[in-house]
Amino acid sequence: MDLNLNLLFLVAALSLPFLLLVGRARRCRGTPPLLPPGSLGLPLLGETLRLVAAYKSEDPEPFVDERLMRYGTVFMTHVFGEATVFSADPETNRFVLQNEGKLFECSYPDSIANLLGRHSLLLTKGAMHKRMHSLTMSFANSSILKDRLLADIDRLIRLNMDSWHDKIFLMEEAKKITFELTMKQLMSVEPGEWTESIRKEYVLVIEGFFTLPIPFFSSTYRRAIRARTKVAEALGAVVRERRKEVEARNDMLGSLLTATAGDDGHGLSDDEVVDFMVALLVAGYETTSTIMTLAVKFLTESPSALSQLKEEHEKIRARKDWNHGLEWTDYKSMPFTQCVINETLRVANIIAGVFRRTTTDVNIKGYTIPKGWKVFTSFRAVHLDPLHFEDARTFDPWRWQRDTVTTTTALANVFMPFGGGPRLCPGYELARVIISVFLHHFVTSFSWVPAENDKLIFFPTTRMQKRYPIYVTRRNDATRDVAEGDEW
Ligand code: HEM
Repeated sequence: MDLNLNLLFLVAALSLPFLLLVGRARRCRGTPPLLPPGSLGLPLLGETLRLVAAYKSEDPEPFVDERLMRYGTVFMTHVFGEATVFSADPETNRFVLQNEGKLFECSYPDSIANLLGRHSLLLTKGAMHKRMHSLTMSFANSSILKDRLLADIDRLIRLNMDSWHDKIFLMEEAKKITFELTMKQLMSVEPGEWTESIRKEYVLVIEGFFTLPIPFFSSTYRRAIRARTKVAEALGAVVRERRKEVEARNDMLGSLLTATAGDDGHGLSDDEVVDFMVALLVAGYETTSTIMTLAVKFLTESPSALSQLKEEHEKIRARKDWNHGLEWTDYKSMPFTQCVINETLRVANIIAGVFRRTTTDVNIKGYTIPKGWKVFTSFRAVHLDPLHFEDARTFDPWRWQRDTVTTTTALANVFMPFGGGPRLCPGYELARVIISVFLHHFVTSFSWVPAENDKLIFFPTTRMQKRYPIYVTRRNDATRDVAEGDEW
């Protein structure tokens, strides 16, 4: 069943709320500001097909730009079967995220919840969420990264790159790296046949997230559910084995097995531990690997940025023995790399924004968002707004070095690639370290040329359409690129 057919079925099935909504909006006409301005689009379909068409292209911005011009930064639309308030306003976005658990709660369709598992951190709420969120934060904080994780990150990235030659699909390689790193950090498993077999199933689970969820019709979705069961069984077996060990190990699974979950101080069940681990695999996999790939793409297209980045990393290399891994002080001496990462996150973050649902009528900017409505806080629309970032649609890593009031304010209030509030991404620093170490080894070990023309698209997720194929040449025996005079 292809995506578009699924889409039509879904919106048709969900048309009743749309009709009720039009009725409600009409009834409210003439009364002081109630719903935000906007259009609910076509009967049945809302604006879904227009949104999908825009995001399948290389330039999805006009969809949002047109509505911003017409209605302002908070407007109403109707997508994926539901009326949704779209916010491109940083203040509103912050308000929504900060009020998670009070006025708003996270909201995923059942189809996604089934793939995540009902105990997933992304779905849990209240006290349990608070406890598990802080456990995750404590596992990926700077001191753990410095003392334990950095060495594995460095080693596993180098191990993967050792096998690269000739043509590679950078997006695939980056995904393999992030998966292996997460498995290592979660449960101390080294990459091998077992991790690769789980990764293959896991890829099918991820595909399920991006298909439209009509279980009866969608073979992709059914396959994803089967794969999810297999991944859960494999992880469950590890959990059972680990429970038999006398001493808790020093990894995430070790922390989970000794953690208390409920108010009564009970430990986590096997299912809870497995769902939790699946959530971490999901949350870090596509996100980090996409930013790794896109940073390389933008650098390839910006020779001066690449040359400055190389200089930064060659300086670090020059003071190190090749066999010696990166240390925390090396990571801390990569200021321009952080600018490149920020700018990649700003221009093309895979998480364009997040959905929340109102738990009561909420007043925002003089409008009322009725209880039960969806709100989409768009980080992307804010990050690409010229009001907040000069020449906002251009990749310009140096903007993060300009010491101006605008930059400082932008950093604090406007730039939110990792979300905010109680659900702030607990992996934000881990992701930065992984991407920095990856860029270090990539630019100091290889030169490269794109193997084909590829393009950045945004639906069903932000990605390079052909997985970014490139030819790599080890820098100490570079010949191909020099001969072609086309070196990066
Ligand atoms: C560039 C990489 C990454 C980006 C852009 C990113 C972005 C985000 C964003 C925007 C959220 C907020 C979701 C919401 O508010 O509903 C989030 C949540 C989350 N992220 Fe990340 N993330 C990245 C990497 C990672 C990594 C490496 C991990 C692994 C530990 C991770 C784990 C999580 C988890 C578990 C949540 C759910 C938090 C909760 O609901 O309490 N992320 N991430």
